Amino acid sequence: MDRIRIVGGERLNGTIQISGAKNAALPLMIASLLSKETLTLHNVPRLADVTLLSRILGNHGVDVTVVGKKVGQRTGDGQTFKLTAAEIVDTTAPYDMVARMRASFWVLAPLIARCGEAKVSLPGGCAIGTRPVDLHLETLKALGADIELEGGYVLARAPKGFRGGRVTLGKISVGATHNALMAAVLARGETVIEGAAREPEVKDLAECLTEMGAKIEGIGTSTLHVQGVDALHAAEHAVLPDRIETGTYAMAVAMTGGEVFLDGARADLLEEALVCLRGAGVEISETDRGLRVARNGGGLAPVMVETQPFPGFPTDLQAQLIALMCMASGTSTIRETIFENRFMHVQELARLGARIDLKGDTAFVTGVEGLTGAQVMATDLRASVSLVIAGLAAEGETLIGRVYHLDRGFERIEEKLRQCGAQIDRLSS
Ligand code: EPZ
Repeated sequence: MDRIRIVGGERLNGTIQISGAKNAALPLMIASLLSKETLTLHNVPRLADVTLLSRILGNHGVDVTVVGKKVGQRTGDGQTFKLTAAEIVDTTAPYDMVARMRASFWVLAPLIARCGEAKVSLPGGCAIGTRPVDLHLETLKALGADIELEGGYVLARAPKGFRGGRVTLGKISVGATHNALMAAVLARGETVIEGAAREPEVKDLAECLTEMGAKIEGIGTSTLHVQGVDALHAAEHAVLPDRIETGTYAMAVAMTGGEVFLDGARADLLEEALVCLRGAGVEISETDRGLRVARNGGGLAPVMVETQPFPGFPTDLQAQLIALMCMASGTSTIRETIFENRFMHVQELARLGARIDLKGDTAFVTGVEGLTGAQVMATDLRASVSLVIAGLAAEGETLIGRVYHLDRGFERIEEKLRQCGAQIDRLSS
């Protein structure tokens, strides 16, 4: 297995191009199942999860082609994918696929909408929590699907397709909102989705579905009204920039000091996260092309934050914030309210010299004079990247194992950081 080697202590200066968002690209790719015609997606990031999902969609019969590079394109520019689900050849999503990438569970609604049935493996738990799918199943039942669980699989049937109805999500769930939307757009009649997630990635999916001919009102709010249509058609859509990648690099600069322009980043996708970073003393300014992030000399103030659905502070930046607050002068209080087990990075950060007390769902992070490099291992994507940014600020060498987690969600991370002066490279096994 590859490892990442970092020699810390260099300030970051330069420009980092922000990629298309993983968590927007995945549901957008899945949405291609809803139409016989071609969905063209621009700004698709080069990530292991995107490659895996292409394979999964291929098994269902989606023809996925990646358009070649055009003259004048930069190396880091996103890819263009053409996805055509002219005919769905298989309505089963097997365990070995869904277990490797939870988002592939979201094929459930489009497969039922197109074929009247689907057999999709339950995803199981993962490193950050139990992650049940009850809300997904309740949603599909509310829209007329019969659901049975057998042998670890969801067997769903709605031979005449979905019928419109009222979906009330008792807890805010990004994935259940994606599934509800994808079920409702081809349902007979009107669907009202209450308690919908307002994450930018949900808005991106709703906008893309609208471009495909769906009738959705209330996009970006917690109540969505969907008028079902008979079919969706071809469309072109650009994946929105990755707000978690943006926040991560902003925190990397805040940790090491320096000044970096995050090309393509959008402040409106970060809301509370930017408020938090500014509150800690990080300088952030907006231009029409991106965000400039700097910390030159000044110290960092501790913060009190809890993770919340959008526009609150995102759980996907919690690990990185804990790493950053190791450099603050004082004790920060960081509460995780979305996933019950998302603190696996804490023990690894302790190996770099972090002082973190965990009490239930809250981490109390006391800033230290400095971190020191060590050998560490990560359990999930965001935990891994928190170790990378901590390693950039630590004195000496940090070796990070299980790099495949990083490759799922951060495009060319070593290259992007190296361009800004970091000493980081990948050691092949
Ligand atoms: C999405 O996961 C993201 N994944 C996650 O990013 C992100 O952390 C999460 O949303 C929250 O923002 C993708 O977009 C691919 P949820 P999702 O349903 O949709 C509970 C990353 O690192 N819940 O919004 O699976 C659930 O257990 C990943 O990129 C139920 O109880 O998350 C959690 O406590 C990790 N029943 C809460 O809701 C359900 O049926 C929010 O989860 C569904 C969810």
